[in-house]
Amino acid sequence: MKVTVVGAGAVGASCAEYIAIKDFASEVVLLDIKEGYAEGKAMDLMQTAPLNGFDTKITGTTNDYSKTAGSQICVITSGIPRKPGMTREELIGINAGIVKTVVTNLIQHSPNTILIVVSNPMDTMAYLAHKVAGLPKNRIIGMGGALDSARFKYRLAEVLGAPLSDVDGMVIGGHSDTGMIPLTRLATRNSVPVSKFISKDRLEQVKEDTKVGGATLTKLLGTSAWYAPGAAVSALVQAIACDQKKMFPCSVLLEGEYGLSDICIGVPVILGKNGIESIVEIELDDAEKANMQESAAGVRNVNDLLNG
Ligand code: 2OP
Repeated sequence: MKVTVVGAGAVGASCAEYIAIKDFASEVVLLDIKEGYAEGKAMDLMQTAPLNGFDTKITGTTNDYSKTAGSQICVITSGIPRKPGMTREELIGINAGIVKTVVTNLIQHSPNTILIVVSNPMDTMAYLAHKVAGLPKNRIIGMGGALDSARFKYRLAEVLGAPLSDVDGMVIGGHSDTGMIPLTRLATRNSVPVSKFISKDRLEQVKEDTKVGGATLTKLLGTSAWYAPGAAVSALVQAIACDQKKMFPCSVLLEGEYGLSDICIGVPVILGKNGIESIVEIELDDAEKANMQESAAGVRNVNDLLNG
């Protein structure tokens, strides 16, 4: 199993590290445009192999896409991260051009690949990838909901005073500070609805804390987060590489599901060797349906900027 990660920055390198440590891929190729940067990160990561006990071979290349040829999965993390106070959407001016170039180059060398888009504004970058790559829709996945759901579970566990392994929850909708929809109604503590333990008002606060989870970290770190985004991407890569048939909320092209079409937005999907094996249409209540429509309107506004 060969995986390419474009962008050897913090998110890309963390993703490569987690993939290697899980040891399900034979090879990970890190690619960056900065001279020597991907090669250095790959060498540093390979020198952890004797200590972390993995056999995955990590190599780096400076913008030579021939080295990515034949990748079954390609992860796109390239582009600029946001600074404190910025929204993800403000990155579109620079990141759209980068993502378009990267997708074109990847497809040229791996025409049968599955693309996982991380670059922000992610829902719009995933939509752009569909326009550029011309791949079947099951082979383009936007990573946002897996990360947002991890942050949602973190916030729930914090309030519950419970171990994270006891908490389950999912975030759907756009990967934006305003468009995320943490499904508090369906969240559980070991199969028991969290509403049994947490008041309605406190759950609203958990929702808000989840929605700005990325911005909270950007304020603390001075740049976008990378450990949890890298871990979330590696989980999607593993689900595909190992044909796990695992369910994650991912940004995928909708064609009528959830009453939406011609948009990429976070919904539950089953991931396996074919990428998106199926889209799962869960019953939403009226408030959640309204939130989804509102979130989609926000994503469409950003998509419209692509035409500009
Ligand atoms: C985040 O939320 C980078 O969008 C990513 O941290």
